[in-house]
Amino acid sequence: MCGIVGYIGEHNVEDALINGLKRLEYRGYDSAGMSLLINDKIETVKKIGKTQNLHDAVTKKYSGGKGGVCTTGIAHTRWATHGMPTEENAHPHLDMNGNFALVHNGIIENYKNLKDKLVSHGYTFKSGTDTEVIVNLIDYLYEKDFFKAVAAALKELHGTFGIAVISKRHPGNIVVARRGSPIVVGLGTNEMLVGSDVSALVAYTRRVIYLNDDDIAMVKKDDVQIYNIDEVPVTRETALVDWDPGEIEKSGYKHFMLKEIEEQPDSVRNSIRGRIDFKTGTAILQGLNITPKEVSGTTDITITACGTSYIAGLVGEYYFEDLADIPTEVAQAAEFRYRNPILKPNSLVVAISQSGETADTLAAVREAAGKGASVVSLCNVVGSTIAREAGRGVYLHAGPEISVASTKAFTCQVAVLLMMALKFGRINRLSIDAGNLIADEIESIPEMISKLLKTKSEIEKIAEKYAAAEDFFYIGRGYMYPAALEGALKLKEISYIHAEGYHAAELKHGPIALLDEKVPVVALANDIPGKDKVIGNIQECRARKSPVIAVATEGDEEIKEYVEDIIRVPKTSKYIAPILTVIALQLFAYYIADKRGRDIDKPRNLAKSVTVE
Ligand code: AGP
Ligand code: GLU
Repeated sequence: MCGIVGYIGEHNVEDALINGLKRLEYRGYDSAGMSLLINDKIETVKKIGKTQNLHDAVTKKYSGGKGGVCTTGIAHTRWATHGMPTEENAHPHLDMNGNFALVHNGIIENYKNLKDKLVSHGYTFKSGTDTEVIVNLIDYLYEKDFFKAVAAALKELHGTFGIAVISKRHPGNIVVARRGSPIVVGLGTNEMLVGSDVSALVAYTRRVIYLNDDDIAMVKKDDVQIYNIDEVPVTRETALVDWDPGEIEKSGYKHFMLKEIEEQPDSVRNSIRGRIDFKTGTAILQGLNITPKEVSGTTDITITACGTSYIAGLVGEYYFEDLADIPTEVAQAAEFRYRNPILKPNSLVVAISQSGETADTLAAVREAAGKGASVVSLCNVVGSTIAREAGRGVYLHAGPEISVASTKAFTCQVAVLLMMALKFGRINRLSIDAGNLIADEIESIPEMISKLLKTKSEIEKIAEKYAAAEDFFYIGRGYMYPAALEGALKLKEISYIHAEGYHAAELKHGPIALLDEKVPVVALANDIPGKDKVIGNIQECRARKSPVIAVATEGDEEIKEYVEDIIRVPKTSKYIAPILTVIALQLFAYYIADKRGRDIDKPRNLAKSVTVE
């Protein structure tokens, strides 16, 4: 999820590492560190906060020279997933004996089992990260071959990794490997670089080799050998980076928002990873730290959040009532503490916040805790204030969300809420068979998103057709009502067009007076319960001359006779439909805003995290 840089060669190693990290800053992070191999000793500096803090510390430490030859080093910017953003948890991590230093991007699902095994063999740990397990495992498996020790350790890992490792016994070597988190090798002249993104390397070389999943490479300053996880040599082609460095920051995307929309197969995959148990048809959400007894005794759930997170909560309300039989309501966080909420000892409050710093949501958490309710949080930023004050919850693992308009955080929030409802449902009345059906659907979300993203050019065409409209309505029912609200919010936020999300049945109770040929209506007519009613609402809109753009399920031919344009989404149940539909509407809003030349990643008047009431 975050940034890796490594360097071997005759240039100043720390400069190469810092320059590389600074090129990766756009990815968002909470801490940074580097390890240098000096006189066959690993020296490490780690700092929380900006890479400048690390740069200043390294400059100060080596202002009088390094006291020896240094040709090898690795560095990292961390986006915490396991363990708070602290210096101790920052990378690189060394093994207990100080033989290896390692940096890691990704999530190790089975780190707890591996940690227990290593502890039983006398290993001690300093950090709360999953990463520290990898470097201790390499040390544990090491006999005399650096590469073999890494290969053997990787075979025991479940989850995702992009790693770079150095060894004090093997100066002039960096071992890198990847599974699910990118690693690229930069081929210099008598120097080599490794990184998680070409932007970290392009200042030194444009000749790069992208590793494939389960590739492991032994990198020296004048040679790179690549093997698969079974240590069989493989050949990977050398590519030439033809991007303008300024563009590379978004990995070639025009805006972070589009990059983050397109990251959603991976971000949702990371949210789900290791959290579905098909044996018992439930979800494993250890961070909730909630017992079956507490769940079965829960009398009511109040979800509280702001903005897009509030809308994710509206989807969660349907999930909890549908699947877990628990009465659920969603409260605007800004209202929550002023309305004197009725909370009972067995009430559960679920606070949702991507940033984990939204003032109104934090205040709601404090109000709920003050009234003795149980509180859990759904946050994306590990160690954020809301996550810490709630004390228990589920991290999204969506990776840093840079664009102000929330996209991948929303879909990960909804996926986590669905997993929570599955877990609670299986404790209450949901059968194992019904649970496994939901679990199957959850597992299918990433591939469904990938399928939808392949149709983005069709969505772009429709968006361009309506980009000049000054007013929009978005209408939906049931699970699609929150999707209508989120679609409207996205359009408002980034295009500055007035757009209202409305319950499809409510339009005729007033707002329909606003419809005419200049007011397009986006109607969510997915092939799920309630579709026929939406068709009726579409006809009401057409009778007022509004052009209607339907979001409809692939293969639904009937819809064609009622609407002007159709945005297609893959066929899924009502549970998954909001996720796919909102992604289609994210793209619809993005293309309209781009057509209007808006500052999409930083819309006027908006902040990424609203830390004021
Ligand atoms: C969403 O696109 C907006 N940026 C905004 O509504 C956001 O969802 C809201 O401010 C809540 O932020 P949070 O999830 O970090 O608490
Ligand atoms: N899971 C690791 C940690 O929490 C790596 C996070 C990252 O990819 O930056 O430290």
